[in-house]
Amino acid sequence: MLMVERVPTGIPGLDELIEGGFPRGRSILVSGGCGTGKTILAMQYLIKGALEHNEPGLYITVDERAELIREDMLRFGWDIKALEDEGKLAILDLSATKIGVPSMEQYYVESHEFEPEKLLIKIMQMARSIGAKRFVLDSIPALGFHMEKESKIREFILKLVYYLKQTGLTSILISEIPEYGKELERYSRFGVEEYVVDGVIVLRYTTMPLLEGAHRILFIRKMRATKHYEGMVPLQITSEGIKLLPVELNI
Ligand SMILES: Nc1ncnc2c1ncn2[C@@H]1O[C@H](COP(=O)(O)OP(=O)(O)O)[C@@H](O)[C@H]1O
Ligand SMILES: [Mg+2]
Repeated sequence: MLMVERVPTGIPGLDELIEGGFPRGRSILVSGGCGTGKTILAMQYLIKGALEHNEPGLYITVDERAELIREDMLRFGWDIKALEDEGKLAILDLSATKIGVPSMEQYYVESHEFEPEKLLIKIMQMARSIGAKRFVLDSIPALGFHMEKESKIREFILKLVYYLKQTGLTSILISEIPEYGKELERYSRFGVEEYVVDGVIVLRYTTMPLLEGAHRILFIRKMRATKHYEGMVPLQITSEGIKLLPVELNI
């Protein structure tokens, strides 16, 4: 049997729930409400990949300023700047252009590049130039708001996932979903993301925890080519980043 190669996620407790890691070369949607830890999880994936597996990563930030992400991640002891200097991590800043101010970053896009085809070319060129093996887009909805038509963002998502797969990048695409109401069973904003990706991981914050104090939950909704854990997994954000609490494994 041909085995799917696995990419360790860098999140303690997660790999053992998904046969050792993300399937190599695939795209995973990480979906959740605000403050559920999507940005931390995605950065942790890139930082651990760079530090522990020598896999360079490319991070696209659409909403948050790169400078603030660097600052926030220092809280977990993660020196993004040092990894950038070593060429193991690169941040492509879309946040300045998105609000129409000049970017202070080394890597950014011009306003005329804020359009599916050009953005895709820029992203893939950057990925190639740093020899990226891991990729994060933070986030799809943030990007969508900038493209006038929903058909544009759909086209962008479809093509992006296609190119990522072609290039063999193992990717996290971040989505944001409402936490309550009838939208609860939706994992994506544009209704296409969850179908084109190979995996969906949902992060939730609950005021009614299953276990005492376990307000944060991770849930693997889909992981192609993988026999994965199917239950809710308690998640903690500590001074060392995100970790999952042990669950009874019978997968
Ligand atoms: N140093 C820390 N220790 C514990 N929890 C933290 C720390 N820093 C941030 N958090 C938690 O993480 C949340 C932000 O996570 P983030 O990944 O930015 O969320 P998202 O991207 O899903 O909106 C904060 O609201 C807070 O609850
Ligand atoms: Mg975020």
